[in-house]
Amino acid sequence: MSTIDPAGTLGELVAERPARAPLFERLRLDYCCGGSQTLAEACRKRGLEIDTVRVMLEALDAASIEREGFEPTDWRRASIAELCAHIVEAHHNGLRESLPRIEALLSTVVRVHGSEHPELRELQRAFAEIRGELEPHLAREESVLFPACIELERRGIGIEEALLEEHEREHASVGDGLAALRALGGDYSPQQALCGTHRALLDALAAFERDLHQHIHEENNVLLRRARELNGLGPSQPTRPDTPNERAESPMNAPRNHRRAKEGESLPRCCETWIVEQTRAWAVRP
Ligand SMILES: [Fe+2]
Ligand SMILES: [Fe+2]
Repeated sequence: MSTIDPAGTLGELVAERPARAPLFERLRLDYCCGGSQTLAEACRKRGLEIDTVRVMLEALDAASIEREGFEPTDWRRASIAELCAHIVEAHHNGLRESLPRIEALLSTVVRVHGSEHPELRELQRAFAEIRGELEPHLAREESVLFPACIELERRGIGIEEALLEEHEREHASVGDGLAALRALGGDYSPQQALCGTHRALLDALAAFERDLHQHIHEENNVLLRRARELNGLGPSQPTRPDTPNERAESPMNAPRNHRRAKEGESLPRCCETWIVEQTRAWAVRP
């Protein structure tokens, strides 16, 4: 009997165990801006087999607990003040270092290779756009949203729903910008690197995307959800349409020529064993 509920939302699944986020990144399941979709819905949109993904999640949970020896922080159980301090320290301060670093790498790569590779200028323009959205967004969170959420928890002072929705809209826009950036960056595949600096740029953009997904997830699916519960408004409804990524082909490579499942099995035993081995091998890789 699987412990993973297909009716659980992607946001809840990652909030419950943050170590699941890298698997969702790998399967291109949008757990941040698309965090309110259920696992079953998200798998269907991506063309993934739900039972295979459930087995992968269970294997990953077991491998993560074995490897780490402890459960990572469950931010749903922290106070809002602790959660906001964590977001600023782990994500906002990280962005204040990575944004200028990526811009400098882009300038170098465009200067050296831009004339022969005009797509690099497009990448530079798209990155400047996302940076232009992010910097004022971080500042507004630190000066308006986070203090309001802390006051809501400490003193019960309500927050306007419009403020929460405005931040969600900005997150969705950043999510769209990240998808556009990835498409322009050739999926950040290292094989396309033109030189060492270009390779460093692709690695930095991939890390920037991973961190922003985690960051937006912690804000949308933990912080704003808690704020709505405290406001007595209940969690928000899914509003985001399918993105091109969600409609893309399945990246999974599970064996297809297996025997049929026996009655009571969700997957044939041979496939389940193979999926567990593959997931555990992937999870322990540095
Ligand atoms: Fe933030
Ligand atoms: Fe944010």
